[in-house]
Amino acid sequence: MKHVKLNPDEWLHYPALARETYYRMTSEGILLAAQAADGRLNAMTIGWGLFGLVWGRPLFQVLVRPSRYTYQCIERTSDYTVCVLPPELTEVATYCGTMSGRDVDKLSEKDLTILPSTHITSGGIAQANIVFECKVVHYNEVQAPAFPVEIVTNYYPDGDWHRIYFGEILGVSVSKEFFDSLP
Ligand SMILES: Cc1cc2nc3c(=O)[nH]c(=O)nc-3n(C[C@H](O)[C@H](O)[C@H](O)COP(=O)(O)O)c2cc1C
Repeated sequence: MKHVKLNPDEWLHYPALARETYYRMTSEGILLAAQAADGRLNAMTIGWGLFGLVWGRPLFQVLVRPSRYTYQCIERTSDYTVCVLPPELTEVATYCGTMSGRDVDKLSEKDLTILPSTHITSGGIAQANIVFECKVVHYNEVQAPAFPVEIVTNYYPDGDWHRIYFGEILGVSVSKEFFDSLP
């Protein structure tokens, strides 16, 4: 799939990219990818994330539990891509959200290929409609005392506290097909 590369100043002019990203986040359609120590790209599904402006920079925040293989990968590279899949690849997201890169090579199992990044080490998923290249500029851990009790009970019964990564969006790739459909 061919992609059009946009820089951070350009992509903010396309609100439809934000709309599609939020829509796919609610419908099991986003992969978080980072390069593993063996050079392979690993991808896991995410259902939570935020993007906007902080410190005068466009950021895509993601929440990753330390138990994920992806956590290890991001700790190593200090970067990641957020990849918005087309609806026909929802089954791929289900797979990447239940299998671990410790046990399988998810990209080769699902015939996914790498879209090389321009600004960071970790590549994106070539089959995605939108790929955000993000460089970690900050991170912190969520903390029990700062939560209402029900969130701790529902989401952290065994600890495994998310680390929140603040990734500066350095570039965005949009599939040619999706780009041509933008208003
Ligand atoms: C819809 C969906 C959303 C998910 N969102 C997150 C998330 O935001 N953060 C997280 O740490 N895990 C999330 N997960 C779980 C990981 O995707 C899952 O544990 C995955 O197998 C981890 O793969 P890895 O070990 O290769 O990193 C989600 C799973 C699904 C199915």
